[in-house]
Amino acid sequence: MRLAKYLARAGVASRRRAEIIISEGRVAVNGITADKPQVLVGDNDTITVDGRLISGEEEKVYLLLNKPQGYISTTTDTHDRPTVTELVGDSDARLYPVGRLDADTSGVLLLTNDGELAHRLMHPRYGVSKVYRAWVKGLPQKETLDLMRGGLVIEGEKTAPAKVKLIRSEPENDSSLLEIVLTEGKKRQVKNMCAEAGHPVKSLRRDNFAGLRAGKLEKGAYRHLKQREIDALYRLVGLQT
Ligand code: URA
Repeated sequence: MRLAKYLARAGVASRRRAEIIISEGRVAVNGITADKPQVLVGDNDTITVDGRLISGEEEKVYLLLNKPQGYISTTTDTHDRPTVTELVGDSDARLYPVGRLDADTSGVLLLTNDGELAHRLMHPRYGVSKVYRAWVKGLPQKETLDLMRGGLVIEGEKTAPAKVKLIRSEPENDSSLLEIVLTEGKKRQVKNMCAEAGHPVKSLRRDNFAGLRAGKLEKGAYRHLKQREIDALYRLVGLQT
């Protein structure tokens, strides 16, 4: 198996992140630094990350967090800001968020040490849907919503077609509530799309990720996924349980 995949399976990081860790020269196979993610490894190899021994498979943990605003979606922050992993601090596993929500975005965020599942859930090839509710400035016209639906060019790249629904308009506050369903996850995509369409986002919440909703979870609270929910995620991205 490729080294990056092995590290992802062992819960070290998502496959993409594992590739970075390898290229940084932090991984050794049988005592020799490996700097290519495609190096092949097996169960008989001794693999270390930063000198720490990595053993095959870790028990998998899947948490659904109702992320509040004010937390960043990385495991560590150089500016000492609060991170989402601090909210799920009682888990021994090395969990990392599946995708990213901006610090000022709230809502559904999955955290897991299942690197292969995380990799697929984030990869645009699998078209996993993410439903956002965005309060935006102004009262978007039908033509503007159609433009957003068809895809907009942002930083030279066209966004994939999206579902965009006007839920409510409040002319007295010069605000509207949009529901936006994306199947890709470019950085700050909702905010960039809305700004490009002339309706900057005032607040943003993710209501649904891959079919999972926060339901009764209070902001900042989390729960373990049920086995049937994990099975459904596996099916969604073509993995066997
Ligand atoms: N799009 C954004 O602009 N921000 C998020 O946090 C998520 C999607």
